[in-house]
Amino acid sequence: MKYSAAAVLLAATAAVALPAKRAISDTDILQYALTLEHLEDYFYHNFLDQFDQAAFMAAGYPDWVRNRVENIAQHEAQHVALLSGALGSAATQPCTYAFPGVTDPVSFMATATLIENVGVSAYLGAASSITEAAYVTVAGSILTTEARHQGWFSSSVDMGPGWSGPEDTPLDFSEVYSIASAFITSCPSSNPTLPVQAFPALSIAADGTITTTASTDGTYVQVIAGLITDTFPVSGGKVANLPAPQGISYAVLTTQSNTTLVSDENIVAGPFIMNNPFLSKFANPAPSF
Ligand SMILES: *[C@@H]1O[C@H](CO)[C@@H](O)[C@H](O)[C@H]1NC(C)=O
Repeated sequence: MKYSAAAVLLAATAAVALPAKRAISDTDILQYALTLEHLEDYFYHNFLDQFDQAAFMAAGYPDWVRNRVENIAQHEAQHVALLSGALGSAATQPCTYAFPGVTDPVSFMATATLIENVGVSAYLGAASSITEAAYVTVAGSILTTEARHQGWFSSSVDMGPGWSGPEDTPLDFSEVYSIASAFITSCPSSNPTLPVQAFPALSIAADGTITTTASTDGTYVQVIAGLITDTFPVSGGKVANLPAPQGISYAVLTTQSNTTLVSDENIVAGPFIMNNPFLSKFANPAPSF
């Protein structure tokens, strides 16, 4: 079957601004996806403008790296055009952004792999909330492309595996928005209000010390890696025995101990992004048969 994805999307969208805290609609999901795509679009164009081929090569990258990042940037611009076209007058407009950790091509590439991974988690997490079947195809086609962007960064550029684990990690709307909002300085007041919130930032030191503005009383750290979530009680602002899942995974601080029930409803801080590259050269972890 041949159809225009944008036309299919257009059919069921409506320009209505609804109050926060309500069921998430397909229009919300498209606006949420567009919010992320605008961020990615800005991210690539802004830093490709700053770091030219000479800067990439001075940082040690072969010439094909920046050329392929240019290609990825074109994809993100196309995702913005696709979703904007579908939403019409309800399209979310770009915000202003800041990426204080990006100072050179190396930190640009490191941030790019995390942003692509969060994009994958966003589309995966949103998939089960989509009502219109045709949107699932459109979202899925963006999702698999973002996954291959991330796989290219982690394999070709970083010389690691192009995956984290056997399954990618779905994240809830507010989990994703919390990560994205750390890079958003301000948005046009005319933008639609999404039924999502940004949780306070969370970081967890190697010794288990938790840093957040949220209260840690009666909380748990839940580590989300693929479809597996593990829970760890917090005591005195610290957590013990956290696992180090291969690749990129996420930790949230929640009042819920049950791993099945962790969601935007009970998260109090995070996600904290964890990254444990798999070092094939050192057979780490050792194969267990
Ligand atoms: C977690 O919640 C699910 C769904 O309500 C329930 O079936 C399960 O028994 C709970 N697990 C624990 C350990 O309480």
